[in-house]
Amino acid sequence: MSIEISKITASIGARVSGVDISQPLDEETYDALREALNTHKALVFDDVNLDDETQQAFVRHFGDVTAAHPTVSSVAGVPNVLPVDSERGRAANHWHTDVTFVLNPPQATSLRSITIPPYGGETLIASSAAAYRGLPETLRQFADTLWAEHTNDYDYAVPDEEIDDEQATQRAQFTSIKYRTVHPVVRVHPLTGERGLFIGGFAQRIVGLSPGESRKILDLLQAYVTRPENVLRHRWSENQLVVFDNRITQHYAIDNYDGLPRRLHRVTVAGDVPVGVEGKESYSIEGDASHYTSVAAPVATPAAA
Ligand SMILES: [Fe+2]
Repeated sequence: MSIEISKITASIGARVSGVDISQPLDEETYDALREALNTHKALVFDDVNLDDETQQAFVRHFGDVTAAHPTVSSVAGVPNVLPVDSERGRAANHWHTDVTFVLNPPQATSLRSITIPPYGGETLIASSAAAYRGLPETLRQFADTLWAEHTNDYDYAVPDEEIDDEQATQRAQFTSIKYRTVHPVVRVHPLTGERGLFIGGFAQRIVGLSPGESRKILDLLQAYVTRPENVLRHRWSENQLVVFDNRITQHYAIDNYDGLPRRLHRVTVAGDVPVGVEGKESYSIEGDASHYTSVAAPVATPAAA
């Protein structure tokens, strides 16, 4: 059996077959998957037959596994697995990159489908590299100079007046440690040298601009990320694993399944500290995430080598 990688759309997504990811991978297979992830940003594996343990074992080929989340509790007894469960709220229906409020957000996210509603519940995954390439030259140069503050402490889910007690409890847990981190708006991917817009929902403020000005600039750039051409709309079936490169994508869980049961298990790979186009690194203003993630070693980019 040999590994087969077939594109799902021009800018993002590929389906991988011919590899049993429930078994340890040899180096050649891992290299092919890493290469595919670099190129396609999101990989879909069908009929994976994984459990929490083997999902983690597979993900470890890509690097250290993080804890489930800096503030949200894990699947009971499995500290590295985050339940993404409609029972625990459907707050992921906004565009974001996972955990960008910490200094070194996960480099990759894996989601394994356990329970899928009969309709809806798709995950949108957008290529922020395609977004960057789509910017007019003037905007690209402007974006290259910008830095943005990311935080977990803002009302991204629902307006205050619509929050019930359960949601208020979830929100209190989510923000039980407050994080603020400044990242480059244009991040250089450490393995490929590719540039991508590194914003998403946790980016709340452009350094040096007012909140109102920041919102306009972020909205302007974000519109390029969410162009339909840059987005994979993944319709789940059970027993799948999707891995996306969290350094150069955003995603959105569509809340269009009438509150029916939907459950995925998420395992993330520890990331490196982001680097902007001039080689400057992100910096933390508030919040220690050392209980959540190790820091992946920086890798020389092909461009810098
Ligand atoms: Fe997410």
